[in-house]
Amino acid sequence: MKVLILNGSPKCEKSDTLHMSAAFARGICSVSGGETEIIHTAQKRIEYCTGCFICKKTGQCVIDDDMTGILASVNKSDVVIFSFPVYCHSIPAALKVVIERTMPLSFEKIVKNEEGHYHHIEREGSKQKRFVMICGSGYPQSRDDFELITKTFRRTFRQCDLTLTVEESPLFNIKDAEPLAKPRLALLEEAGKEYASNGALSEQTVKALAVPMIPEEIYMKFANGEKP
Ligand SMILES: Cc1cc2nc3c(=O)[nH]c(=O)nc-3n(C[C@H](O)[C@H](O)[C@H](O)COP(=O)(O)O)c2cc1C
Repeated sequence: MKVLILNGSPKCEKSDTLHMSAAFARGICSVSGGETEIIHTAQKRIEYCTGCFICKKTGQCVIDDDMTGILASVNKSDVVIFSFPVYCHSIPAALKVVIERTMPLSFEKIVKNEEGHYHHIEREGSKQKRFVMICGSGYPQSRDDFELITKTFRRTFRQCDLTLTVEESPLFNIKDAEPLAKPRLALLEEAGKEYASNGALSEQTVKALAVPMIPEEIYMKFANGEKP
């Protein structure tokens, strides 16, 4: 299986969230024998979609920039992990611009789905992809934000078959927090294996991943630089 991580954190390789996505991808590849490509979207030159809709007819965007390479990587992948932190209660701009430029993945024709929502019909190559969203947040108690972001992501990409959200993600980059982060990364790697083997995660795994790594009060001490 070829896995692509689209890292939407402007911190690029220093991203907290990337620790989680890399662990999940490692799990997938250990089962499927595949490889992972990582694209740091903030390092790419990506113009805004101008809404000309020509790509809906031709499958090609008229703008000549780094998005051409990103779409080529998406088309070559079996699983695409959209990896990003919550920014201002939403998706960070460095990834949002990429998402808006994925218009060529679908045709012009709009249909209504089983849930009564309208969407463009996906092109053949894109329909079979599996899209995963992995999102971290700095604030504890981010459930409301995660619900909105998850809904937005699933509405945008019908290929999305898994969304994972983890609060307190700065802990993945704090040396003293390693004893907390390591078991969570191990759990994410196991989740990747489960996703590759069974095509989905059990309710138990999803629940285990949603539990904060430490209670809110202790986390806030870490976050505010106080002794926990
Ligand atoms: C501009 C900006 C906006 C942010 N907004 C939020 C927010 O609304 N809610 C939240 O929980 N964390 C917010 N954060 C914190 C990040 O989500 C958090 O630090 C995360 O771990 C960063 O992940 P990354 O290293 O993968 O970029 C924000 C951080 C920045 C820099």
